[in-house]
Amino acid sequence: MTRTLLLTFSFLCSALLPPLAQAQQWPLPAARFEVEGRKSGYFYLGRQTQILEDDDFQNPGMFAVEAGSALWRKVEGEAGLSCASCHNNAAVTMKGVSARYPRFDAEKGGIINLELMINREREQRMKAPPLKYESEQLIGLTAYIGYQSRGLPRAIEVAGPAAPFYEKGKEFFFQRRGLTDISCAMCHDDLAGANLRGDVISQGQINGFPFYRLQWRSMGSTHRMFEWCNTSMRAEPYPYGSEEYLNLELYVAWRGRGLPVETPAVRK
Ligand code: HEC
Ligand code: HEC
Repeated sequence: MTRTLLLTFSFLCSALLPPLAQAQQWPLPAARFEVEGRKSGYFYLGRQTQILEDDDFQNPGMFAVEAGSALWRKVEGEAGLSCASCHNNAAVTMKGVSARYPRFDAEKGGIINLELMINREREQRMKAPPLKYESEQLIGLTAYIGYQSRGLPRAIEVAGPAAPFYEKGKEFFFQRRGLTDISCAMCHDDLAGANLRGDVISQGQINGFPFYRLQWRSMGSTHRMFEWCNTSMRAEPYPYGSEEYLNLELYVAWRGRGLPVETPAVRK
């Protein structure tokens, strides 16, 4: 009975929501979650959690993708436009975009990530107020755009003008901090695969963000995860969208180069 309902639901969804139709093959074969020793967090999950991520009808992150799809088409701001007014079908125009973020941005003279890029589009092109970092709306739009690249390899540019910011992010990753006097690298490079208070420590890759974290019972951005890890190191976290976290995001994204976009990933 439940199964019939699910099938009907799945049929209706695919019939009613063409923009969500996926060009990429999903789920990916297990071998794709590792690239030259770089392993997605998926690799460290129990099978049950992997199944949640594999199946769009069980993946709780898909609610955010759907919310983002509605926002994509919503007219807001003084210009009387929506994202779709200019970009039309996200499955075509946004395909591959999130795989290239974060990136150096000349206008900013620093690193911009997808969240801040979405807000810039709202402010400059729609004349609409920016969305609050970590709000359901911003997570939704970020997840929706990320989803259009699902399965594509992350290609992060760190040469040229991005180089000094990459260096700062790398320094952050290796710097010991807080009362515990440990670095990101000490857990995510040295202890990947080890158990920590009921968690299996992964490599700390960010190819699945924004993701659904079962422990949070909600979606979260890369910067929320950085904040969580910083706090568990008994170190002062930085604000969402701060230069420190943007540089760190660039380094960590590059560290996971070639891993497939998994948005919306599911993690424990
Ligand atoms: C005390 C060990 C520890 C330290 C230090 C630490 N983390 Fe984590 N981190 C964890 C644990 C535990 C998790 C949850 C399980 C997992 O995915 O590794 C996690 C998860 C993550 C994830 C999510 C991975 C995924 O697949 O979704 C990212 C990204 C991350 N950490 C980045 C960082 C960064 C950046 C730093 C430094 C600011 C850091 N961590 C410091 C223990 C640590
Ligand atoms: C008035 C037209 C217009 C509106 C409205 C608009 N955009 Fe854009 N957007 C553009 C143009 C033009 C570019 C630069 C050329 C390009 O990359 O397509 C761009 C670039 C982007 C990029 C960068 C693409 C890349 O390759 O790096 C993203 C992401 C984006 N827009 C998302 C959005 C979102 C999300 C909204 C709604 C909140 C939105 N845009 C609203 C016209 C618009």
